[in-house]
Amino acid sequence: MTTLTRLAAWQSLQQHHEQIADAQMKDMFGADPDRFNKFSLSAAGIFLDYSKNRIDESTIPLLLGLARERGLQESIAAMFQGDAINSTEGRSVLHTALRNRSERPVMVEGSDVMPEVRSVLARMRSFSDSVRESTWRGCNGDAITDIVNIGIGGSDLGPLMVTEALDRYSHPRLKMHFVSNVDGSHIVSTLDKLEAETTLFIIASKTFTTQETLANAHTARQWFVDQTGKADGIPKHFVALSTNRSEVEAFGIDAANMFEFWDWVGGRYSLWSAIGLSIALAVGMDRFEELLSGAHAMDEHFMTAPMEANMPVILALLTVWYNNFFGANSHLIAPYDQYLHRFPAYLQQLTMESNGKSVTRDGEAVDYATGPIVWGEPGTNGQHAYFQLVHQGTHLIPADFIVPLESLNPVGDHHAMLLANCFAQTEALMRGKTAEELAIEMKQQGASDAEIARLRGHKTFAGNRPTNTLVLGTVDAASLGALIALYEHKVFAESVVWGINAFDQWGVELGKQLAKTIYAEIGAAQHLTQHSTGHDASTNGLINMAIKRRTLVS
Ligand code: F6P
Repeated sequence: MTTLTRLAAWQSLQQHHEQIADAQMKDMFGADPDRFNKFSLSAAGIFLDYSKNRIDESTIPLLLGLARERGLQESIAAMFQGDAINSTEGRSVLHTALRNRSERPVMVEGSDVMPEVRSVLARMRSFSDSVRESTWRGCNGDAITDIVNIGIGGSDLGPLMVTEALDRYSHPRLKMHFVSNVDGSHIVSTLDKLEAETTLFIIASKTFTTQETLANAHTARQWFVDQTGKADGIPKHFVALSTNRSEVEAFGIDAANMFEFWDWVGGRYSLWSAIGLSIALAVGMDRFEELLSGAHAMDEHFMTAPMEANMPVILALLTVWYNNFFGANSHLIAPYDQYLHRFPAYLQQLTMESNGKSVTRDGEAVDYATGPIVWGEPGTNGQHAYFQLVHQGTHLIPADFIVPLESLNPVGDHHAMLLANCFAQTEALMRGKTAEELAIEMKQQGASDAEIARLRGHKTFAGNRPTNTLVLGTVDAASLGALIALYEHKVFAESVVWGINAFDQWGVELGKQLAKTIYAEIGAAQHLTQHSTGHDASTNGLINMAIKRRTLVS
């Protein structure tokens, strides 16, 4: 048994779970008219209703007891003050410094990083202004019309999600494109739409060694030279965002065109850094700074709010509650806003790369569940796709509903319908429908007793399915910044309870290593007639199919 499962707080939660497991939320609402007020809170412009959870007044205090025993408050302080909490890589974790809008210094190894942070922000402002105002011109003297961000993982998902979310505010001339996949179809289909003379490429890679990004960057550079015949035009059309100056220069991008960040910024936490340049280009640096300010407001809340009124902490503890005591192993994210359509995909990397771990910080195997599977799609679309399983399937799936009170595109009754659907889903998931309610409803519609009996099992809903509702005023840069920071901190707080390192990602390495070996077998023309025997039968068989096909088409 690990330390976590031996804790008194853990054992108390197990007992509490046994007591509460069969309690119905709808009865709790019936018994307590003040439940909504008791289990809701606001922070940084976000309202959280967590009253539709399987909790009573003793649940959160018990969960907070667990958080205290795990030293959550101390871990939060350690992160903000720059301790090397990413222990396997020996690094500080300071994405919060990138959006530190206060005058407080942030120290890493004895020096304040804030002057460097502000200097890169100033360079981002001057560059993005010049492109937006057309003073930055391409090799033929034309204004830039298209911007292609080439990156993957954190160097793609964050900027892509945010530029989509803030599309309403984007520059009318500049069209944003994101290329991530090493599948040639991604870069080719993107380049097909572009004029080289008016396109700016942003090569975004923390390490500048990522295979997919470098392959796409080389293809883009070759295309640019082929289209324009001007290799000397590259400085006007290629910029890099990276921590690795020497690799950027080796690729052929001048250091003057490189926007720097630092190894204390994790890839999936990097949209606040130079990696956000595509965001600044799309919506302007003022809005990018509003995004930072929104996140900073949530940072201040996370750092200073008491644990029982701390939104990221409450959300994290609810995830622990369902994950570890109810055995729920997935978590649904349902944004009721079309602009947030990439938010679940972004959260998949944030949460699953961070908390998809099976050993503690000390390398001991865990004997409890860690990060759940995160998935989702925007509502109302999801209602016509996966919601059936959430309502009547055999899995318990806690869900976060995210909705703005005000639409950026008010038209007809659309927004009232959107809100109604969002609130109705959480009500239906909580209340369900009993056999008695069904019988009354069907009788009123003229159904016979036999018909009612035949359909009873199919048309009743167990209910008691937990949801959080996160309400924004509207989707703007500040509220989006706060929302993203909320989930970043939630994920960190969960990792502290589970005793795992949320900031490394060794699990992605093995596949990368093996891909290099297989690429050497199927990638180079001189190997095409060889026959692979060095793997298991399945992998050999697949490699040999590829070699055969590639031999035929070469
Ligand atoms: O392979 C995983 C990963 O390391 C992510 O953590 C990261 O966001 C992504 O690859 C891209 O890395 P880079 O920015 O160094 O190209």
